[in-house]
Amino acid sequence: MTHPGSTATTPQTPEPDDRAALDGARPEARWWRDAVVYQVYVRSFADANGDGVGDLAGVRDRLPYLRDLGIDALWFNPWYPSPLADWGYDIADYRSIDPAFGTLEEAEQLIAEARAVGIRTIVDVVPNHVSDQHPWFRAALDSPPGSPERQRFWFRSGTGPDGELPPNGWQSIFGGPAWTRTNDAGVPGEWYLHLFAPEQPDLNWTHPDVWAEHEDILRFWFDRGAAGVRIDSAALLVKDPDLAEEAPKHEAGEHPFTDRDALHDIYRRWRSIADGYPEPRVLVGEVWLPEPERLARYLRPDELHTAFNFDFLSCPWEPGPMRASIESALAAHAPVDAPTTWVLSNHDVTRPVTRYGRTDTSFSFESKRNGTPTDLERGTRAARAAALLAMALPGSMYIYQGEELGLPEVEDIPAERRQDPMWLRSGGVDPGRDGCRIPLPWGGDRPPYEFSPEGAERPWLDQPDDWGRLTVAAQSGATTSMLNLYRTGLRFRRAAPWSGDGAFRWIPSSDSVLAFARGERFACIVNFGPGPVALPVGAHVLIASNELEGGELPQDTTVWLRQAQDQAPSVDGLPGREHSIG
Ligand code: GLC
Repeated sequence: MTHPGSTATTPQTPEPDDRAALDGARPEARWWRDAVVYQVYVRSFADANGDGVGDLAGVRDRLPYLRDLGIDALWFNPWYPSPLADWGYDIADYRSIDPAFGTLEEAEQLIAEARAVGIRTIVDVVPNHVSDQHPWFRAALDSPPGSPERQRFWFRSGTGPDGELPPNGWQSIFGGPAWTRTNDAGVPGEWYLHLFAPEQPDLNWTHPDVWAEHEDILRFWFDRGAAGVRIDSAALLVKDPDLAEEAPKHEAGEHPFTDRDALHDIYRRWRSIADGYPEPRVLVGEVWLPEPERLARYLRPDELHTAFNFDFLSCPWEPGPMRASIESALAAHAPVDAPTTWVLSNHDVTRPVTRYGRTDTSFSFESKRNGTPTDLERGTRAARAAALLAMALPGSMYIYQGEELGLPEVEDIPAERRQDPMWLRSGGVDPGRDGCRIPLPWGGDRPPYEFSPEGAERPWLDQPDDWGRLTVAAQSGATTSMLNLYRTGLRFRRAAPWSGDGAFRWIPSSDSVLAFARGERFACIVNFGPGPVALPVGAHVLIASNELEGGELPQDTTVWLRQAQDQAPSVDGLPGREHSIG
């Protein structure tokens, strides 16, 4: 029996010498290098005032839950006033809180209360674009072509005889052209650029006002106790001033609006601001780039601290690609001395238990495979194994709310209840992201599962009728629940001397197994294959993601082992010629 909490795997209390080693290894200023960061999508976390929308009071009420989960920091999706064209990623005021969520004063209280229980706060900043209701954009629309107000954005004349065609052929990431034509009292005018929805006009990062404004926004939140910022769409800010067309293939750094070299000047400046605080603030980049080496350039010592590892998130649940993803991430991060991050989900992607329950277990925005056959039991089993794998790897880890409950993607949302611009703008072709943003189930056996108080309004997205067994209350008492796996795994990770962001060695194993050692005596083994894997002799099982079978590791299961003092870890009878990859 190897479920967390069962007799055989009752978590060990860290030994005193382990604690001493740990204290020495994690100076406060470097907390971010191996932090566990929990992502709060406020709108769907907990609704205290009963309007069907989560709020800051709801988060404050649930701080004990977050503390007990064993996390180091919270990242809040944008909580600013927004017309909600992209659910908060269209910001009208970067220095205030959306009234549906609460007030600035409450945000300050929340930051302080969280810090008092050992949890830091990371806020989301969106520098690529603003809301079309932002005062700058309103002023730009009210001003003539060529005016200073328009120069903070990308206004251009159209092409075609009457300017009726967009300035170029760039496509919006949400579908359709990346340009919208202004219309001043019925008179069509210039076009403006929006890489996302038309309600999200792109800022012009060659303009000094844009730089100054964002530096001030950073200080505004850092001064209020934010420990760091998550930088939205961080590789998109700089555009080719000539607006060259996209080609089928671009040399690195030469794409007209992605990963252009001038971006790095912005982040160097931001880093100097972050480093100016007594506890340096942390910059986390949302950088979707296929090559890990290009990603690592954002993590040079004078730029961002960390970036989300989307290669790992998108990777199919298969041993070869997983090994390659881990290796290439570690290898690319080592030269810049940045810790890797391990991410399994966020508010933009298909929930892991659903993703891993499909035939193709990879993720890509182009093919979300909505509605394809899904074996949730298998997916959950793999997601449990993936969670322990991610927790054991060196670096920091991100957990998106509900991941710790094993919530599945909700795929049967009726068209009239869907909210995401990805769905709306693709004419329903793209299923969008509503299915991973469903309000959390806290207790009870029917919606709203204590997300909202009694008698509240309908939640902004409906919860399924069969989530009673997935609530926090239902899972808290169940030793084999996903929640208990996360709690126990994180407790180990926090206390153990092998955690941290260094010292990783692969242990030789068969192709269907991933095995690695951290430190002298800790090993993590993942079996992807159908054949059970014998555990090393004398190893003590700390925790396993699913039950062992006859003492062996079955398919889609991860185990953490503490080796006897005099034994180096080995797997499948392969003794320890270990190799280090940095
Ligand atoms: C990021 C966010 C996503 C948003 C987009 C535009 O990718 O994660 O939710 O829609 O940026 O701001």
